[in-house]
Amino acid sequence: MRIFVAKDYHDLSLEAAKVVADEIVQKPGIVLGLATGATPLAMYRELIRMHREEGLDFSQVITFNLDEYIGLPPANINSYRYYMFHNFFRHINIKLKNTHLPNAMAVDVDEACQEYEQQIAGVGGIDLQVLGIGQNGHIGFNEPGVDFALGTHRAQLDEATIADNARFFASRSDVPRYAISLGIKSIMQAKKILLLASGNSKARAIYELVHGAVSNATPATFLKLHHDVQLILDEPAAMHISRA
Ligand code: GLP
Repeated sequence: MRIFVAKDYHDLSLEAAKVVADEIVQKPGIVLGLATGATPLAMYRELIRMHREEGLDFSQVITFNLDEYIGLPPANINSYRYYMFHNFFRHINIKLKNTHLPNAMAVDVDEACQEYEQQIAGVGGIDLQVLGIGQNGHIGFNEPGVDFALGTHRAQLDEATIADNARFFASRSDVPRYAISLGIKSIMQAKKILLLASGNSKARAIYELVHGAVSNATPATFLKLHHDVQLILDEPAAMHISRA
């Protein structure tokens, strides 16, 4: 696991955008796995700037998002489809037909999960998966206690995650209880993984990821078993890890 510690959130975001942009330049038809949440927002802004000012080309890029809240239609401002369109896709030259999120309005959720796995496999798998991390060590919506053998599945949000994510909703009771999420198994199949963490609220989870044992008590620790993981952290998120 390679670890880069940036001085602050701004530098973390520039570094992350550079990693993603380099991969796009090397493989213009790259399959990107994308994350939502507050953490990748400034990385998306920097990628938009690179597109506008430096001609970074997304015309052949294919994307799959990690997760989507069950029951939120794409037009809902808290759906991840809305987030991706407004914070990223509409500002770059990506083809919307090449952007994918789990179909969280599907009548048959299991079928939607299988279809998503098939779509990913159909384009040869994810080349670079961008991840954030929850305070409780979740990745996507793989919460503590998750079965690591699951592919894309219907996930129940942990109470701690509902409390964390309530900041984006009018009230805590508006946060959906379920989501469709790539599983640990699906995330582990990505060829490369880039995990971003900012702020001291993530320091405990990052400590477990770097120094702890592999355990579904902290789902991100499964990444220790992946051969190509890069962490980009800021100083507060890195405060508990030893950098000897
Ligand atoms: C959400 C998402 C995750 C994200 C995490 C951290 O619950 N499902 O994919 O990584 O929370 O979010 P933030 O970056 O806002 O701290």
